[in-house]
Amino acid sequence: MEKKVALITGASSGIGREIAVEMAKNGYNLALIARRESRLNELKSELEEKYDTNVLTGAVDIRSKDDIEAFIKTVCNKMEGIDVVVANAGYTISGSFENLNIDDYKNIFETNFFGVLNTLYPALASLEKSKGRVVIVGSLLGEFGIMDRSTYSATKFALRGFYESVRYEFKEKGIGFILVEPGFVKTELREMDKQGNRIKKVDEKVTKKHSHSISVGPEIIAKKIVKLIPKKGFRLKILPFHAKFLFFLNKHFPRVLASLIYKYRDPIRKHVIK
Ligand SMILES: NC(=O)c1ccc[n+]([C@@H]2O[C@H](COP(=O)([O-])OP(=O)(O)OC[C@H]3O[C@@H](n4cnc5c(N)ncnc54)[C@H](OP(=O)(O)O)[C@@H]3O)[C@@H](O)[C@H]2O)c1
Repeated sequence: MEKKVALITGASSGIGREIAVEMAKNGYNLALIARRESRLNELKSELEEKYDTNVLTGAVDIRSKDDIEAFIKTVCNKMEGIDVVVANAGYTISGSFENLNIDDYKNIFETNFFGVLNTLYPALASLEKSKGRVVIVGSLLGEFGIMDRSTYSATKFALRGFYESVRYEFKEKGIGFILVEPGFVKTELREMDKQGNRIKKVDEKVTKKHSHSISVGPEIIAKKIVKLIPKKGFRLKILPFHAKFLFFLNKHFPRVLASLIYKYRDPIRKHVIK
């Protein structure tokens, strides 16, 4: 039987990288996208050596509609279509509304929201043909906000709104649709500047000091996501347990959560790397 093909954005680190590993283990051929080409090439060698998989890599910036379209065309030609798209690439910036400007908001939307659309449009026809699956990686901060994260939260709320509407259209086409909203995960997410370029290398000691004790490794999130992919229909998935708890609190006791966030605003701010 032909192997299924999964296209994953943001595969050079963190959650996306671990999803790629998990999907290779599960017998998929892969098309991996990120900007750090050397990381993608290392991953390709590792996966092709360890598992029965073929990997195509695209050193593509998802903000470039034309580049991503060209890469997806190549994938469809070389791998005969796409069965799964995991739109995972994203970044975060921190700062109060007062200390940011309009361009900071526009920039982050280019990656976290329009980057997802840039990925989905050229893959749509192939996904419809394969009755495939779409996974979008949103965030728990697409459910409620915390201090100094208004840019990031706005993009993740936008993805939530997109999912809520488009899930019916995908269902009609036979495309499965999962919006995953993770809580705190130990990754390189915060090593970006305000323009979404990866220039900041955060000292490990600083990362440790700022990471929440409840943060989990990306491999835990990836395993759970990959298990969901074969399921039909649409679903919103909050991961892991700490995120489920906060989601529950926000849904049923939103004023309690809001007052806790406000009460602990200073310790929460201390977790945010500027
Ligand atoms: N870590 C958390 O606590 C957490 C919580 C909830 C949701 N998330 C979401 O999880 C997703 C993955 O993030 P992560 O935590 O795994 O962080 P990460 O390790 O920084 O991974 C982000 C990935 O996105 C890629 N990327 C960023 N901008 C890109 C662009 N313009 N074009 C192409 N690729 C780009 C990065 O690759 P290059 O830099 O090589 O391009 C990298 O592979 C994000 O959408 C994030 O919002 C993370």
